[in-house]
Amino acid sequence: MSMLPGKVKIVEVGPRDGLQNEPELVPTATKIELIERLADAGLRVIETTSFVSPKWVPQMGDNAAVLQGIRRRPGAVYTALTPNLQGFDGAVQAGADEVAIFAAASETFSKKNINCSIAESLKRFEPVVSAASALEIPVRGYVSCVVGCPYEGAVDPQKAAEVAHTLFAMGCYEVSLGDTTGVGNPASVARLIEACARRVPIGRLAGHYHDTYGMAIANIHASLQLGMAAFDSSIAGLGGCPYAKGASGNVATEDVVYLLDGLGIETGVDLAKLALVGDWISSAIHRPNGAKAGRALCARSE
Ligand code: HMG
Ligand code: MG
Repeated sequence: MSMLPGKVKIVEVGPRDGLQNEPELVPTATKIELIERLADAGLRVIETTSFVSPKWVPQMGDNAAVLQGIRRRPGAVYTALTPNLQGFDGAVQAGADEVAIFAAASETFSKKNINCSIAESLKRFEPVVSAASALEIPVRGYVSCVVGCPYEGAVDPQKAAEVAHTLFAMGCYEVSLGDTTGVGNPASVARLIEACARRVPIGRLAGHYHDTYGMAIANIHASLQLGMAAFDSSIAGLGGCPYAKGASGNVATEDVVYLLDGLGIETGVDLAKLALVGDWISSAIHRPNGAKAGRALCARSE
C-alpha cells in the first residue's frame, strides 16, 4: 500500500461522456444543474460538453448554452472536447477553461469516430494545440481503444503508447488512456500502463475506464499500484460512446470515491453528497443508477 498516491485527481466526465449517447435530448437546464451539483459535491475538474458536429452527436448540440449557463464555482475547471479548430473556437468563445483533443489507437475506430485516420487526426490537432498555447489554455489528450477496439479486436499496447507519446510531445499536459469498450482487466491494463509509462511520465497519464465488463474498479486499483494518480469517471456510471456499440458507461464516480476513501487517498469529494447527485440525475433521465456505492449509500439513508 505504501506505493499508492496520497491524492488523486478525478475528472468527472458524466455531463459529456455520460450524456452524449442518451437517445432522448436531455434538457440544457438539467445538464447545467448536473454540473453545478457535481461542483458542489467537491469535483474540481468537470468535462461539461463537446464541441463536435451536432449532426454526429445531437445530444451535445447545446454545448455553448451549457458552458455559458453554469454558475461557476471558484477553483473548479470546466473543460470541453474539441476535435478541430472549429470546435476549439466554439469552446473558447463559450468560456471553456481547458479543452481535450481525442485520438485513437485503432484506425477503424478513428475513422468511425472522427472520420479520419490516426495520422490525419494528429495533424489536425496540431493547430488546436498551437491556438490553445497562444491563449494559455491547457490541452488534455485522449487515446481511445487502448486495450481493445470494437471493430479490430485486441490493440497492441505499443500502438497506444505511440499515440499517447505523440499527444504528449505535441503539448498535451496529460494523456487519458481510454478503454472505450471496457474489455481491459488488471493484467492487460498493467501491460498498457507499463508500455505508456516508458514514453510518457506516469504522472502525466490518466485512466479512463469504461465498465462494460465490470473490471473498471479493479483496473483503477491496478493503475494506482503502478503510480497513476488521475482517473476519469462518470456520475452514476452514465454513458457510452456512440461509435462503440454495446459499450457501457464509465466507471461510476461514486464507486471510485468509495474505493479511494477506503484506501485513505484524498479526492476532495464528499461521497454522501455525490451519491445524492447520482440518484437525482438517474431519476431525471429515467435511468437505473449504475453506481453500486451510490445505490448502497442512498438505500442506507432512506
Ligand atoms: P467531418 O464530417 O469529417 O467534418 O466530421 P468536416 O470538417 O468535413 O465538416 C463537415 C461538417 O461538419 C461541416 O458542416 C462543418 O461545419 C461541421 P456543413 O458544412 O456540412 O453544414 N463541423 C462541425 N460542426 C460543429 N463543431 C465542430 C465541427 N467540425 C466540423 N467542431 C468531426 C469530423 C470530428 C467534426 C465529426 O466526425 C464529429 O463531430 N465526430 C463526433 C465525435 C464524437 O463526439 N465522439 C464521441 C466523443 S469521443 C469518446 O467518447 C471517447 C472518449 O470518451 C475516450 C474513450 O472512452 O475512449 C473521449
Ligand atoms: Mg469514454
